[in-house]
Amino acid sequence: MKNNPEFQKAVSTVLDSKNLQLTRTFTQHGDVSVFAHCMAVAAYSKKLADKLGIKYDSESLVRGAMLHDFFLYDWHETSNIGDGLHGFAHPYTASKNAIKEFDLSPRELDIIRKHMWPLTLTKLPKYRESWLVCVVDKYCSILETFKLNSYNDYSFVNPMLIKKLEQHKAARIRLEKGKEELKKRVAHERRTAEKRAEMQNEKRRHEISGRYEQYKARKS
Ligand SMILES: [Fe+2]
Ligand SMILES: [Fe+2]
Repeated sequence: MKNNPEFQKAVSTVLDSKNLQLTRTFTQHGDVSVFAHCMAVAAYSKKLADKLGIKYDSESLVRGAMLHDFFLYDWHETSNIGDGLHGFAHPYTASKNAIKEFDLSPRELDIIRKHMWPLTLTKLPKYRESWLVCVVDKYCSILETFKLNSYNDYSFVNPMLIKKLEQHKAARIRLEKGKEELKKRVAHERRTAEKRAEMQNEKRRHEISGRYEQYKARKS
């Protein structure tokens, strides 16, 4: 998948998210992070879809898989964050988090919400993309639990994409810094102009009162 432009393009639309990057610090199974798990599910789902030769929405499949476990907590430490028991509730939590950050297609939302079927009995996958992720998620979970996986965080990401994202990030930081400096400069210029105007007003007031004093002296 490292050289699959379609996969890399879809991944790049979510990879820059701070919260998605945070999932690199949460463990999914064994020593695999939630991030690596989602990336593997995305890559294997796409591989399977291509192998089957079926018609599918590639971008939704990859993005939905990338976000299917976007629940953003360590489920080994917390089994219930208020939405219900992790196994049953995390698809809903993940979709709630994903909606806040991304513009999701109906397929992407379905992939996230239904991936735990048949555990979540009534949440039957609606699209073929959701079925693919639902099946591949279980396959990857088994690989990871029995330490049979051969992937880590960036096994499926082209190094060029990571480089490009780093460059974007650096450019964004530079831009933010530039904006801050510009704001400071504008504020400083405004303060200087106000001070100058105040001084001119003071001078004028002084001149007027001087002239008035002269006028009074002449009259008396
Ligand atoms: Fe899950
Ligand atoms: Fe999963």
